[in-house]
Amino acid sequence: MKAIILAGGAGTRLHPITKVISKQLLPVYDKPMIYYPMSVLMLAGIRDILIISTPHDLPNFRNLFGDGSQLGLRLSYAEQPRPEGLAQAFIIGKEFIGEDDVCMVLGDNIFFGAGLQGMLREAIQTVEQENKAVIFGYYVDDPHRYGVAEMDKDGNVLSIEEKPKHPKSNFAVVGLYFYPNSVVKIASGVKPSARGELEITTVNQEYLDKQQLKLQVMSRGYAWLDTGTHEALTDATEFVKVLEKRTSLKIACLEEIALRMGYISRETFMENVEALGKSSYAEYLKKI
Ligand code: TTP
Repeated sequence: MKAIILAGGAGTRLHPITKVISKQLLPVYDKPMIYYPMSVLMLAGIRDILIISTPHDLPNFRNLFGDGSQLGLRLSYAEQPRPEGLAQAFIIGKEFIGEDDVCMVLGDNIFFGAGLQGMLREAIQTVEQENKAVIFGYYVDDPHRYGVAEMDKDGNVLSIEEKPKHPKSNFAVVGLYFYPNSVVKIASGVKPSARGELEITTVNQEYLDKQQLKLQVMSRGYAWLDTGTHEALTDATEFVKVLEKRTSLKIACLEEIALRMGYISRETFMENVEALGKSSYAEYLKKI
């Protein structure tokens, strides 16, 4: 399975911070925001990753990660000229995806939870063995801001609606999606919505119509943070800070994950540490 990190968008809710810098490069406590979705993919065992961003911001992501070899990854980059919707990622990424199945994670979504790795592996299995798409639902108080999934008592999805005025449930669809290769064809047939975007909800609806959609609830014990507003960004920073301090462990520390997953050698790990200079982040890595 390959993966896409979608890290474009206008970030208008974070203006003026995001007038000249990409939202996904802003710090969330001790590391750039994109580290968090990147860590999710690495924990899932996915190493072929395409980063999509705006023509203006893409060079910065390249400067940050290069070809990915320092983390044992194979990274590719592609531009999205305008934020024309999440489903466009599969059109832009068509060549990259090739014949493979594909996961997409939004560059501004943060996930945390002890069982995360197992849940990700299960999602990949469902795609590979059952040829189904897997999406995740998270209970929120303000579902009208998100794609909303309605389920029956057995957890089967009945409907998915994008930012509904009258949500049928409190389950928001989070920014992490696993699809069979057929998503490339499906996305290329999606028509722009009333707000002019190629909606991921339309893609999910098509899998639902074909009875090929599985929704996994991210239950209590998981944190899903989105970082789109000033308030949410500060909350995310606070969350990471408190958790890291209390556990003495870092969340989304890519060098640590790469070493523990066996993606890089000890030598490459030490090169990374050297390159990080005197930060407390580097000090943490040295202890490993
Ligand atoms: P949004 O939160 O919908 O948009 P945004 O980040 O541009 O923010 P704002 O509403 O403040 O203008 O997007 C969710 C994520 O998806 C975010 O990481 C940006 C990214 N995105 C793209 O990369 N391309 C797109 O076409 C869209 C719609 C979003």
